[in-house]
Amino acid sequence: NGSASKAGKSRDILETMDKSGKNCVVFYGSQTGTAEDYASRLAKEGSSRFGLKTMVADLEEYDYDNLDKFPDDKVAMFVLATYGEGEPTDNAVDFYEFITGQDVSFSEGGGAEEKPLSTFKYVAFGLGNNTYEHYNSMVRNVNKALEKLGGSRIGAAGEGDDGAGTMEEDFLSWKEPMWSALTQSMELEEREAVYEPAFEVTEKPDMDAEDDMVYLGEPNKNHLEGASRGPYNAHNPYIAPIVESSEIFKVENRNCLHMEIDIGGSNLTYTTGDHVAVWPTNAGKEVDRFLNVLGLASKRHMVIAVKGLDPTAKVPFPSPTTYDAAVRYHMEICAPVSRQFVSMIAQFAPNESIKAEMTKIGSEKAYFVEKVSSQHLNIAQLLEILGKGEKWTAIPFSLWIEGIHKIQPRYYSISSSSFVQKDRVSVTAIVESVEIPGAPHVVKGVTTNYLLALKQKQHGDPHPDPHGLDYAITGPRNKYDGIHVPVHIRHSNFKLPSDPSTPIIMVGPGTGVAPFRAFVQERAAQAKAGENVGKTMLFFGCRKKMEDFIYENEWEEYKEALGDKFELVVAFSRDGPQKVYVQHKLKEHAEEVNNLLQQKGFFYVCGDAANMAREVNTVLAQIIATQRGIPESKGEEIVKAMRASNQYQEDVWS
Ligand code: 2AM
Repeated sequence: NGSASKAGKSRDILETMDKSGKNCVVFYGSQTGTAEDYASRLAKEGSSRFGLKTMVADLEEYDYDNLDKFPDDKVAMFVLATYGEGEPTDNAVDFYEFITGQDVSFSEGGGAEEKPLSTFKYVAFGLGNNTYEHYNSMVRNVNKALEKLGGSRIGAAGEGDDGAGTMEEDFLSWKEPMWSALTQSMELEEREAVYEPAFEVTEKPDMDAEDDMVYLGEPNKNHLEGASRGPYNAHNPYIAPIVESSEIFKVENRNCLHMEIDIGGSNLTYTTGDHVAVWPTNAGKEVDRFLNVLGLASKRHMVIAVKGLDPTAKVPFPSPTTYDAAVRYHMEICAPVSRQFVSMIAQFAPNESIKAEMTKIGSEKAYFVEKVSSQHLNIAQLLEILGKGEKWTAIPFSLWIEGIHKIQPRYYSISSSSFVQKDRVSVTAIVESVEIPGAPHVVKGVTTNYLLALKQKQHGDPHPDPHGLDYAITGPRNKYDGIHVPVHIRHSNFKLPSDPSTPIIMVGPGTGVAPFRAFVQERAAQAKAGENVGKTMLFFGCRKKMEDFIYENEWEEYKEALGDKFELVVAFSRDGPQKVYVQHKLKEHAEEVNNLLQQKGFFYVCGDAANMAREVNTVLAQIIATQRGIPESKGEEIVKAMRASNQYQEDVWS
């Protein structure tokens, strides 16, 4: 299974470590890049504080059948995200299946031994979300499997909780005891942390940014050469034409976009219920702020060549490029700042008093919350405030490449049916500006505002860019020309029943209705084609009938096609004296809901994970209990069983 290996690269981790003189490998299982970032941070810290020879490794790039030969003077670290319903991330599937398999066997007959991993030392940290049922199951299961095979874990297996919003602090409090256990076990000595750059950044004043060889945001060589080709995926987006875009409602600080994206010219396919990944561009205003505060604005178009200082350091964007392009297209500069990163850059502060303040912010959790996280500052905003006009010119650019996450695509539940329009995916997204009391800046979504800017460009809106974010909507070398957007498709398990006559109940407030517009669109088309379509019940929730009742006219059309098979129940939360939510409406329809479930109807929830999806789950268990005259605990068991058999499906986000 060498499919994912790059040409000529070994899939043998021991060989790779030996050849490059490493004694610590940090493996990551990552879906959206967060686990990968934590892995890089661990590797970085291991080398700067403890002199470990570290490397970071994508789990899918290696084989694991020789882990029984892993020598006890080396250590493996695992940073593992749990994805969706307790699944491994895509890049961790093979590893997971191997290590948790019934009869794991190692290359040289190690499987016969009781404890084949007796010399294997490891460290483990998981990223999970406690609003999901299978909280951190990935790290738990891998840890169990490794222990069973005889591996020795150093320190506790850490668990970070995104649901509680404590991931960063969970990580920080896990790693210190882990490091002390590891220093003992490997007889390491802690030293004064010295920053050692992982990348060499060379300015090329003799090169022109317009040169054909210079990357100005193109994700890879084919794109640079104007000959992009498939397969299009998370490493290679398709630059798709936007064929239609509109704002389906617009109130102060809140716009809802509907966008139709043509994937017909690619080999991309989707089925109803899948997600489309959109690759954002940073807002010009934030790019300017970032380059300014670092003192790089005047040479933003300087060509730079970036290379890893050791063979395992991967440059996260193509090179040569320019400061401007690297920041604009590849670095997540608007993301929340981590406390550890603040500590790390304190040493490069423009003067001693700023350094002292920065050190305090980095070392005191409560102070960090007060000064940074409660105000939702991004890194450049923080440096601007602390610097009081001073530029932060001493920070090596390598540190930015290492410390700022690489930009990630954002996933949207596709709101069209592939049965109705197989070459066009539609996106339904709310563009929101969030004002935080006491904070100096309004928080704006990177990707939604980018999409809004594209919509405005496409329509030649007279007052484009009301937020003044100044998106470079022309894209690299004008190739995206403002009405193209880089995308790929992610397939999901959120699917209609294969038999259209099976009843369905859908619960989707706000833009959680997106995949259900697709479901209803599909069923209406099936009914028109003469199929026997089962009861199709949709619970939708929004603030006010006159404000954000999206697709109001379309529901009428579907009603015509589906007749009384389609039932739309709407909860308006801000029209009356009391909040009315979808779960209240579910309760009002308890009898019908229960009847449909007893006819083996499917139940779907899409939208906010933290509150809505949880509450809907609870209410459904109550409905089942009351209607069937059984205890509530029994109702909960039934809901659990429905989830296990896919009769209850979720597409939720936090
Ligand atoms: P609210 O903002 O007025 O509280 C789409 O966002 C709709 O979902 C809005 O009407 C919103 O109401 C509602 N909503 C907010 N919290 C919810 C929850 N916990 N459960 C269900 N709906 C919720």
